[in-house]
Amino acid sequence: MIKVDVQQIKQRFGIIGNNAALNRAIDVALQVAPTDLSVLITGESGVGKETFPQIIHQNSPRKHGQYIAVNCGAIPEGTIDSELFGHEKGSFTGALSDRKGYFEVADGGTIFLDEVGELPTPTQARLLRVLETGEFIRVGSSKVQKTNVRIVAATNVNLTQAVAEGKFREDLFYRLSTVPIQVPPLRERGEDIILLFRKFASDCAEKYRMPPIRLDEEARQLMLSYRWPGNVRELKNITERISVIEENRDITASVLRLYLPDLNIEKYPVLVKQDSDQKIFNSEREILYQVLFDMKKDVNELKKLVHDIMGGKMPIEVPEESAAYPHPIHTVRPVPPIQEAEAVEEAESLSLEEVEKEMIRKALERHNGRRKNAAADLKISERTLYRKIKEYNLE
Ligand SMILES: Nc1ncnc2c1ncn2[C@@H]1O[C@H](COP(=O)(O)OP(=O)(O)OP(=O)(O)O)[C@@H](O)[C@H]1O
Ligand SMILES: [Mg+2]
Repeated sequence: MIKVDVQQIKQRFGIIGNNAALNRAIDVALQVAPTDLSVLITGESGVGKETFPQIIHQNSPRKHGQYIAVNCGAIPEGTIDSELFGHEKGSFTGALSDRKGYFEVADGGTIFLDEVGELPTPTQARLLRVLETGEFIRVGSSKVQKTNVRIVAATNVNLTQAVAEGKFREDLFYRLSTVPIQVPPLRERGEDIILLFRKFASDCAEKYRMPPIRLDEEARQLMLSYRWPGNVRELKNITERISVIEENRDITASVLRLYLPDLNIEKYPVLVKQDSDQKIFNSEREILYQVLFDMKKDVNELKKLVHDIMGGKMPIEVPEESAAYPHPIHTVRPVPPIQEAEAVEEAESLSLEEVEKEMIRKALERHNGRRKNAAADLKISERTLYRKIKEYNLE
C-alpha cells in the first residue's frame, strides 16, 4: 500500500491543527489501519473522535468493504442485539421477517461502535464472542454464523472506571483496546484553538456572506486559557453563534466572555466536573441548574419591571417604532402589577420536571428534532434523551 502521511490525512479528512498529541493520534491510526487489530478511541466529548474510525477504515485493505457506524448509546436496550446480530422472523413481537444484523452486513468491512461504554451487559457478552471467534447467533436462532469484521470503538467515558464499577466487562475492555488512541482535549492544543476558530469563522462568513469575525489580543488570550469543556464542538458552536449575532466583526474579550458559559461556573462549584465519569449525572444536574439560573435572571428582570411599573416609570425596553406611534404608552402593554407578581410566583414554583421537560423540548426545537445534536447540546447521552422524550411524551 502507498505510504500516506499525517498531513495528507488531515487535509483529506478536514482535520485542523498541528498539536503534537493530535498528530501522534493520527499517526497511530495510520500505523494500525492495515492490520485487523481492534482500536479504542478515547477522549472527552467533542474532541473529534468520529473521524478516526474512518481514517482507519479508508487506509485498510477493507476500504472497499462496508463501513457501518453504530451509536451504541442511541439504540434502545430492547433492540440492540437484533440490530447488531440480526433476528429470526417471530423471535419477538414485531419481528415480522428475518433481518440481517450489522455484523452480518459488514462482513469483510469495519464496524465503528461509538459510545461503546453504553452497551448493555448481555450485548457485551455477544460482542466479546464475535470478537474472539468471529461467531454470532441471530436473536431467536440457534444457528451459529461466522463473520469477519474489524472493530473500532470510541468512548468519552472512562472505561477503566466502568470496569472497576462492574458496568463494563474487563475481558471485553482488553479485547477492544488492543490499540488505544487518545484524542487530546482542546484546552491542551494551544495555538490549534486559534486555527480552529479561524476556520469556523471563515466557514461561517462564507455561508452567510459576511466578513469573518476576528479576535483582538485579549480575546485571543481568553480563548487560549478557557477550559473548553465541550472541546472542538463547543468552539465551533460558539464561533458560529458570535458570527451570527455580533454586528461588530472585531471581537473583544468582554464580548467573548458573554459566550463562554463555563466562565460563570466558578461561582457555582457544584457544576464543575471533577470527574468525567460522572458526566451524565452532573450534566443532568447542569441542565437543571442552567435553567434555574436562567429563570432566576428572568424573575429578577420581571421584578424590576414590576417595580418600574409600580413606581410609575416605563420599562426600559420600549420598542423603537413606538416613538413614532401616537400613543407610545400603550404600545408596551402595562400588565397590572398583581398579575406580574402571580407570574413570578408561578415561575418560581415550576417543578424541576417541568423545567427539564421545557429544556429538552427547546433543545429538540433548536436542532430541528435531531436527537444526536440535541443530546450533545444538553450534554446528556442520547439514551438518556430517548428515555426523557418517552417519559415526558415529547414525541
Ligand atoms: N481537528 C478538527 N478539525 C476540524 N473540525 C474538528 C476537529 N475536531 C473536531 N472537529 C469537529 O468538531 C465536532 C465534534 O467532533 P466529533 O463529533 O468527532 O466529537 P466526538 O469526540 O465524537 O464527541 P462525543 O464523544 O461527544 O461523541 C465535529 O463537528 C467535528 O467535525
Ligand atoms: Mg462522537
